[in-house]
Amino acid sequence: MKKVLVTGGAGFIGSHTCVELVEAGYLPVIVDDLRNSHERILAGLTRITGRDLPVHRVDCNDPEAMERVFTAEGPFHGVIHFAAYKSVNESVNEPLKYYTNNIGSLAVLIATAQRHALRRIVFSSSCAVYGQADRLPVDETAPAERTNSPYGFTKVACEHLLRDLAVSDPAWRMVLLRYFNPIGAHPSGLIGELPVGVPSNLVPYVVQAAAGRREALTIHGTDYDTPDGTCLRDYIHVVDLARAHVRALAHLDDERSANCSVFNVGTGRPASVKEVVDTFERVTGVRVPVRMGPRRPGDVASIYADTSRAAHDLGWRSEHDLGHALRHAWQWQQHLEAEGSDASIKRSGA
Ligand code: NAD
Ligand code: WQD
Repeated sequence: MKKVLVTGGAGFIGSHTCVELVEAGYLPVIVDDLRNSHERILAGLTRITGRDLPVHRVDCNDPEAMERVFTAEGPFHGVIHFAAYKSVNESVNEPLKYYTNNIGSLAVLIATAQRHALRRIVFSSSCAVYGQADRLPVDETAPAERTNSPYGFTKVACEHLLRDLAVSDPAWRMVLLRYFNPIGAHPSGLIGELPVGVPSNLVPYVVQAAAGRREALTIHGTDYDTPDGTCLRDYIHVVDLARAHVRALAHLDDERSANCSVFNVGTGRPASVKEVVDTFERVTGVRVPVRMGPRRPGDVASIYADTSRAAHDLGWRSEHDLGHALRHAWQWQQHLEAEGSDASIKRSGA
């Protein structure tokens, strides 16, 4: 069985990817110190996959700890690097934290991998690198350094690092995946997103407002140049996104492909904030209390993906629609409610 190192494998996207890796016959080896996850996600993974996956609770920035993981578990067929901080707002207030963890962990990982002759990586990038694209849907040839947050710059910097590495050493094989807006949860209701405190992302806020944990969702801006005045985004079901990683690993095996490839991972279908709320109410039958508010600083009006490269080169496209993703996000919230847990669960590492 091919072992794949999954940094950040206990996180939102990482945990769903571990499920799909097991389904596809890989053995994921998780490195995650649970700084933004929780034991419950590991327990959910065990229940879904029927296996106790190897988990190393170490900091990816710690070179000695990473060396020990490679020595104990290697050789790996490849690595998928999710571990990073991801809050745009927080990155504005604490840029050093973001540059240190997001770029530092990739540098440590690469150095360790090279020592162990591992040169295959799938990297979590973001549509944040595009900022407001000139043409929509945006494709991978668009300028990809227009971001305006420290978080976004860490992704731009990591992409540069990886591309430079691919040029300097053609033995490296890498896939950079630019995720759009991942939402939803596993249909089992056993794993999902664990937003810390008051969510800043739309869907976690919608489900918490619907559950009565928040007074009302504020729609940030209704005067955009979009069909209903609210922003357009490309919301992708996390299970579809997880499956794209399995395809990306297979792509690394295809020696005919370039040694560094970049793919958008979205649905290609834009949805407005109002459409998200309406769809949520339709598929769940639960009302979302809403109020209209001003624009949120830093938001782009519209961004959605041209997904033709991923369809052509990876043979991947999204299967779930917005309604599925929102229903699954609601099921996950209900699962948390049933456990009687606070939605802002204390992290074990916190
Ligand atoms: P997440 O916070 O749920 O998962 C990240 C995981 O990495 C967490 O479990 C955390 O504990 C772990 N981690 C972070 N730093 C670590 C370190 N130094 N050592 C060990 N473990 C560490 O985030 P996510 O939503 O699953 O995002 C995964 C990746 O995808 C990130 O790189 C993120 O920037 C990127 N991404 C996310 C989104 C999104 O909207 N969720 C969109 C685009 C890109
Ligand atoms: C979506 C829409 C808000 C909350 C972020 C990162 C991006 C990527 C994905 C990591 C916007 C509106 C939101 C609310 C609202 N992450 N909204 N009320 O900003 O598109 O992307 O996550 O790489 O880098 O920036 O996602 O979910 O925050 O917002 O009206 O309470 O919902 O204004 O139009 P965003 P989001």
